[in-house]
Amino acid sequence: MQEVRVKDRVFEIFIDEIEIAAAIDRMAEKMNKDLAGQNPLFAVVLNGAFMFASDLSKKINFDCEITFLRYSSYEGTSSTGAVKKIIGCSEEVKGRNIVIIEDIIDSGLTIQKIKKDIEEFQPGSIKVATFLFKPEAYKGNHEINYIGFEIPNDFIVGYGLDYNGYGRNLKDIYKLKQS
Ligand code: IMP
Ligand code: MG
Repeated sequence: MQEVRVKDRVFEIFIDEIEIAAAIDRMAEKMNKDLAGQNPLFAVVLNGAFMFASDLSKKINFDCEITFLRYSSYEGTSSTGAVKKIIGCSEEVKGRNIVIIEDIIDSGLTIQKIKKDIEEFQPGSIKVATFLFKPEAYKGNHEINYIGFEIPNDFIVGYGLDYNGYGRNLKDIYKLKQS
C-alpha cells in the first residue's frame, strides 16, 4: 500500500517490509558478534517495540532473557515531555548486561528515564538498541549502540508505532503525509 489512513490522518509509505527485514538482519548480526556469551537481559519497551523485538529476537543465536517494560509519553503526534513508567522490570538486574530495545528514539527523554531507572538496580552494563532514530530531534548524550534506520524528523506509524493507539499492526512503516 502506498498510502494509508489512520484515524484522521493520511500517511505515505516510507520503509517497506523488505527493507525492515534487511535492517533487522544487520542489527542481529552485529548483536550476535558483540553479545554472545554475555547472557544479556533484553528489556523491551512497550508498546511500540513489540514487533521489532519479536522479529529481532528470532535472529538472536545466543542465550538471552527477554522482559518487558512499559513507558509512555506520546499523545497524538508529539511527545508530552513527561515520561511515565507504567510497568517496570521484575527480573534481577544487578550485575546483568541489559540491552534496552526501543522502537524509536526521538527527543531521547524516554530512553534517558529508562536508563536512570535501570541504573538504580546496578546492572553490569546497559546498551541501547532502537529500530528508528531521529538524530535531529535527539537531545540526549547517551550512546545508542544499535540503530536500524536514522530518519528525518517526521511522524511515523506502523511496525509497532502508533498514532493515538492505531496503526501499530501495519507491516510497513509510513510517514505523515504533508497536506
Ligand atoms: P522520546 O522520549 O522523545 O525519545 O520518544 C520516544 C517515544 O515516543 C517512542 O518510544 C515512541 O513510543 C514515541 N514516538 C516518538 N516518535 C514517534 C513517531 O514518529 N511515531 C510514533 N511514536 C513516536
Ligand atoms: Mg516507545
